[in-house]
Amino acid sequence: MTTKGKIVVTGGTGYIGSHTTVELIQQGYEVLIIDNLSNSEAFIVDRIEQISGVRPSFFEFDLLDQEKMDAFFNQNKDIQGVIHFAAAKAVGESVQIPLHYYRNNLVTMINLLEAMKKHQVVNFVFSSSCTVYGQPDQLPVTENAPVKPAESPYGYTKQVNEAILNDTIKSGANIKGIALRYFNPIGAHHSGLIGELPRGVPNNLMPFITQTAYGIREQLRVFGSDYSTPDGSCIRDYIHVVDLAKAHIVAIERLIKGTNKSNYEMFNIGTGNGFSVFEVIQSFERSTGKKLNYKVVDRRPGDIEQIWADTTIGNKELGWKAEKTLDEMTLSAWQWELNYRNK
Ligand code: UFG
Repeated sequence: MTTKGKIVVTGGTGYIGSHTTVELIQQGYEVLIIDNLSNSEAFIVDRIEQISGVRPSFFEFDLLDQEKMDAFFNQNKDIQGVIHFAAAKAVGESVQIPLHYYRNNLVTMINLLEAMKKHQVVNFVFSSSCTVYGQPDQLPVTENAPVKPAESPYGYTKQVNEAILNDTIKSGANIKGIALRYFNPIGAHHSGLIGELPRGVPNNLMPFITQTAYGIREQLRVFGSDYSTPDGSCIRDYIHVVDLAKAHIVAIERLIKGTNKSNYEMFNIGTGNGFSVFEVIQSFERSTGKKLNYKVVDRRPGDIEQIWADTTIGNKELGWKAEKTLDEMTLSAWQWELNYRNK
């Protein structure tokens, strides 16, 4: 079978990685997933095949293992690019076990870039976060806003990894990189076959909502209604995970085609719209017809009040725009929860 080329997706069985793998396959790429299954399930590879009709290659190892990484790149030649998702991502946990976060998220990035240099793989897309901005002074936030001191070890790993990538590129390594600063990805593939699969009690809003509606959790706690926002709850820029996945395809293609303006670029990936926690709850109730049990409790430490993206630069440079509405996001998250639980 002829394909457009081989793309490595680290963390390809995870939430965003699996959706990106589906889009890549549907666009004609051959995908090689590297994942250690530390926070995901092997059956996701079957689901990706079910959706796309093509089974991605799956390599189960840890990116901390340099020997395995070297063997992987020796075995697999002509790789066009790497999209790097694999990382630990729970904000609260990163405060409890910072050394794990620093080793896991930073050393894997270093190992990957070293392997790319050695094996002459040029194009790299990095999974960054709007968390690098902290609470911005101006909204919507643009890519030129200052990076603020990180609120957590997790957030700090995103900042340092952007710097590692930028410094590596500046040093003259033959690597080109794009950091995508995601806002809040929610929702699931319309097939209901892949979606967000948190282990244990969810930290994030959307899976907590769907698990509460399903009856796994008793009640959603809304963390604060006394913020300086129109309805008092925090505001975020929620983006459908499939829109986010598509941004990775255009980013890696920008590097492959050489239409990038500099060898290190970063882009906001959001919708440009901010929604409050109450608006997300209303959207869920509207789109699914289900009533949600919730109550307002104290603020959650570390939460910023409000953030949403200025998407002007990303939309123009990438020729990409988020398309799906908040109701499509909340409904697809619910359909995934139902499908997964009723399997
Ligand atoms: N929220 C609730 N109740 C909950 C969970 C969340 O009210 O049970 C509120 C939060 O207070 C916040 C909003 O819903 O206002 C969104 O919270 P999330 O935890 O879903 O996401 P965050 O905006 O806190 O994002 C954080 C980091 C990101 C990281 C993301 C996923 O800032 O960098 O978690 O781990 F990518």
